[in-house]
Amino acid sequence: MINLDYTFMTDGAVAGGIPDAVLSSAAASFSAAHAAVLRRWKAGELGFLDLPDDERQVRHCHDLATWVTDRGIRDVVVLGIGGSALGPIALRTAMLGPSWNGLSAANRDGKPRLHVFDNVDPATMKALLDRLELGATLFIVTSKSGGTAETMAQYLIVRGRLEAAGRPLREHLVFITDPGKGALRHIAVQENITALAVPPNVGGRFSVLSPVGLLPAALTGIDIGGLLKGAAELRARCESPEWTRNPAGAFAVLQWLADTRLQRRGHVFMPYADGLRDMAAWFVQLWAESLGKIRPDGTSVGPTPIAALGATDQHSQVQLFMEGPKDKTVTFLVVREAGADLDIPPQHRDLPDLAYLGGHSLGELLSVEQRATAGALAARGRLNMTLSLDRLDAWHLGGLIMLLELATAYAGELYDVNAFDQPGVELGKRFTYGMFGRPGFEADLAAWDALPKSDPRRVV
Ligand code: PA5
Repeated sequence: MINLDYTFMTDGAVAGGIPDAVLSSAAASFSAAHAAVLRRWKAGELGFLDLPDDERQVRHCHDLATWVTDRGIRDVVVLGIGGSALGPIALRTAMLGPSWNGLSAANRDGKPRLHVFDNVDPATMKALLDRLELGATLFIVTSKSGGTAETMAQYLIVRGRLEAAGRPLREHLVFITDPGKGALRHIAVQENITALAVPPNVGGRFSVLSPVGLLPAALTGIDIGGLLKGAAELRARCESPEWTRNPAGAFAVLQWLADTRLQRRGHVFMPYADGLRDMAAWFVQLWAESLGKIRPDGTSVGPTPIAALGATDQHSQVQLFMEGPKDKTVTFLVVREAGADLDIPPQHRDLPDLAYLGGHSLGELLSVEQRATAGALAARGRLNMTLSLDRLDAWHLGGLIMLLELATAYAGELYDVNAFDQPGVELGKRFTYGMFGRPGFEADLAAWDALPKSDPRRVV
């Protein structure tokens, strides 16, 4: 089960929380948002909602996983950025644990290690490429558009290395990209390189349940059927146009009200489980890139998502959340049944600073600390809510992903922005193309040249 407890978002429990009248007034806005999302889905615009039913993609991923196992691949490297990388990273951390790549092949059940390059820092890329055995490595080049500069640069470097080593490209490259467009699709067709499709109506940050996330997951033995089943069942729980009966609706409405009515603009996402740490980074991209927009009336809107981790951040950002400006909400993400636990032995009974810990477990400490932090925040008028998963397994993870994606779609409607585009990142891309001398971007280079440059008097 996945549920959302929002008691500490309301003024019945927290001074300055969302009043009942405001909560009730959101009924009409949410029902309109729900209808708009449904309309866009039926019109074929929101492909992420269809992914849980796509059995063909599951078959393709499993077939490829068999092919890879048969070929003795020991390392899989995903090349991608943004949504093409954050999803696979989040699945890896949640389902394989933090030290998968350090395990022996036997302890990995013969499955490959999984690396994800999500940047173009040459130091990182060189360090990994230099220690990989190319003959036993598969590179998955993931780009929905099939032309993103960072991913294409990574691909060119990898291709250069494979060619220099005389390796057959078809055996070491798989592409994940649009089914009909883009440079990667073109190369796949020309050179007969295996390429899985991201449906045209699924954007990068909504693509984790497409081959973008599912292929690396299947290759490492993650239960991708379970992920999709959990997502489908959560989607079914969101059929209601009443936000109080729709978990994704409740998430969206509460954050939107807190932002627009109470100026709680920072939305902290704070898992209390190391396995979910990278889900916070995934959520930050989803919430920020989808909702930080200019509305049709010209106003700039959008909450600022902030990633945190419990209990680690209790010794860092929580000080700010408790006593800094009252401009945030905190969403805790907890797992009720820890997969593993450690008993704390009752030693040093004569030292009160340690004695109280003995006889409890580490999982108990983590859970009690989360509840203590939620209560402490509430006591100081800090709004917070708790998303709980019974267990950290594929079914729950798939459900969590669907909940947050659907919440983002609803929030887009509530904020009156298109959650599925990202026009704000274009200008920086065009300046880069101009500076790299890409044909067609001469005007952008001129616009870049006309910008004020660093003034030596202003440098200390
Ligand atoms: O969510 C998005 O659309 C972006 O973050 C993309 O994932 C990112 O820009 C990479 O794009 P692409 O997959 O086309 O290479």
